[in-house]
Amino acid sequence: MQDIVVEIDAEISKLQQVKALLTGTSATGKRKPGRPANVSLAGKARTRRTLSAEALERILSLRISKFLPVVLKSAVLLGSSLLVLPFCAQEPLQILLVGVDRRTVTSLDGDWHYLVDAPPAGALYTGSGQINDHGYALNTHPNLMGRHNQEYDFATAPTIRVPGDWNTQVPQLFNFEGVLWYQRDFDAHPQPGTRTFLHIGAANYRSHVWVNQKRVCDHEGGYTPFDCEVTAVLHPGSNFVVIAVDSTRLQDGIPSLSIDWFNYGGLTRDVSLVTVPQSFIDDYDVHLAHGASFDPGNTELTGYVHVLDAPVGTVVTVDIPEAGAKTTVKTDAEGNAPFSVKASKLVLWSPDSPKLYKVHLAAGEDSLTDDIGFRDIRVDGTRILLNGKAIFLEGANMHAEAPVRGGRAYSQEDADRIFGYLKEMHANFVRLAHYPHDERMERTADRDGIMVWSEIPNWQRISFDKPEVYAKDIVMLGEMIRRDRNKASVILWSISNETPNNPTRTKFLSDMVAEARKLDGTRLITSAIIAPPANGTEMVQNDPLCDALDVIGQNEYVGWYDMTPEQADSIHWTFPQKPVLMSEFGAEAKFGNHGPVGQRWTEEQQVYVLEHQFVMLRNIPQLRGTIPWILMDFRSPGRNIPKLQDGYNRKGLISEKGEKKQAFALFQNAYAEHSLGKAE
Ligand code: GCU
Repeated sequence: MQDIVVEIDAEISKLQQVKALLTGTSATGKRKPGRPANVSLAGKARTRRTLSAEALERILSLRISKFLPVVLKSAVLLGSSLLVLPFCAQEPLQILLVGVDRRTVTSLDGDWHYLVDAPPAGALYTGSGQINDHGYALNTHPNLMGRHNQEYDFATAPTIRVPGDWNTQVPQLFNFEGVLWYQRDFDAHPQPGTRTFLHIGAANYRSHVWVNQKRVCDHEGGYTPFDCEVTAVLHPGSNFVVIAVDSTRLQDGIPSLSIDWFNYGGLTRDVSLVTVPQSFIDDYDVHLAHGASFDPGNTELTGYVHVLDAPVGTVVTVDIPEAGAKTTVKTDAEGNAPFSVKASKLVLWSPDSPKLYKVHLAAGEDSLTDDIGFRDIRVDGTRILLNGKAIFLEGANMHAEAPVRGGRAYSQEDADRIFGYLKEMHANFVRLAHYPHDERMERTADRDGIMVWSEIPNWQRISFDKPEVYAKDIVMLGEMIRRDRNKASVILWSISNETPNNPTRTKFLSDMVAEARKLDGTRLITSAIIAPPANGTEMVQNDPLCDALDVIGQNEYVGWYDMTPEQADSIHWTFPQKPVLMSEFGAEAKFGNHGPVGQRWTEEQQVYVLEHQFVMLRNIPQLRGTIPWILMDFRSPGRNIPKLQDGYNRKGLISEKGEKKQAFALFQNAYAEHSLGKAE
């Protein structure tokens, strides 16, 4: 059995302690039975050490619940060591294709067979929690005659539509959280000199993918895309894919166990086959050069094109005919081709003129054309500047739920309806809460001139003390930024929402901010911060996380969860000297429920609470945007007042059926008059 590597980074003395813990050597130096004999250690610097596989197996076969957590915890406590055990976290996928929706693909959307793997999901997980490659993944058929072989059969199983969540498609699965198996056949005609990837727009939450019985990838995260290379397993003619999707919420998941939205499961976004040449463009960044200060005369377009597995010196062309910009560069040893080119004529992207340019990229045998807008976004003191001009963001929050139809939103029709409401409301901004939405949302925002806040689901309590959770979070952040870095509409990356103010969390999230800046230095970083306790009429925001942010998102529910509506009039906020967005505020109302302003869940009271909120908001000098919670009522299982909530969070300005509440008109007027705040 091959050796297993454990990586530890801690002082020698602490390593000795880990050794004692791992070998179970008591203070008297006597080694406990069944513990590994040989564990070798060395110096402070991050080093790789080899434990004999058998030893570790023995350790691991010990009743994990009793033992290993102690080791893990002690190792973490002893020096925030990074202990990597093969079956803990999934290796992040190495390849993620950018601009897939701008490539010619073979769509695998449509009807897929499905089988429910009822808890404990014995078809997917072996007794020791490993992934079972020898069960449903083989997609074989039961012997109706002769010897017993198996008791599942996709061929005769019912079908379900992809993309889409299973909860709103199959009534019996409405509340199902667990493992569902998907299977479909597809034809392929692999050409020599090409590679093929299975592209999955999103699958909630953990997915395991097999093609022709071979496992081709695993992925964790319900809201970002992933690609599985299938070149080696495809054959001409009929092929099949089997995907197990586990929507079970995890303590160490992102998000974690408790969420205030519906945990829709399944292949919730497009699935397709993408065929590209042997070396191909897997990533690119084309943006307006972002200098130390905004220069109105600046027409320099810059970025890079990354050509995977390209021989050094591969010629790359970036051509933007309408902007009079064209350049040819070459790839370096890593396949990267940075470029910079002056555009002779450039209209910057903004809500008033959401100008998008055809950007033609070519490298070797590969090419693609994207639609990209160019704009400059930055902060200056407490102002937010778009193309050098101070702006005020008039927006709304939105969950990825389809208006009227319900269920996870994934279609252009869903996006058009949502952006239709935003336009009707005179909004220029939308916060896509609390996770990356379908890419069509950003494409539509680019088209319609609506600025976007995009967020990764660090919602309230996450296991901030666990390095492996940080590792997952960084992968998710990378997937979000990589997919949408060329979307002009996206002006803010948010790393979290309403997380508890403690040093472990602040370190975790501040490190993530630093990572986000490394990945994209042209956008603003924010987070939605929980409301500070009121001290009389004073609300002082001094959460240390604000230090790491460009823009502070402030959530508050004065008049609904806290205090009375009237008290909002006299609330005085104090913030660090940065632009502030009121990233959530509002009250609940059931559409059509009417009554006195003092009666909760009436449309009148929702307006009443908001009108008092407006008084408070207008008293915040550095307020640079208002984002009411929320554009549309959305499903949330914990909202259980019959006849008023019925499993919906009712803070929408519109009901889930698209019925406009009085509050919608309130914002329509406020945004038409730009009466909630000033850009400077
Ligand atoms: C929180 C949270 C939202 C939630 C909202 C509410 O602030 O961020 O996800 O839905 O409040 O309670 O309605």
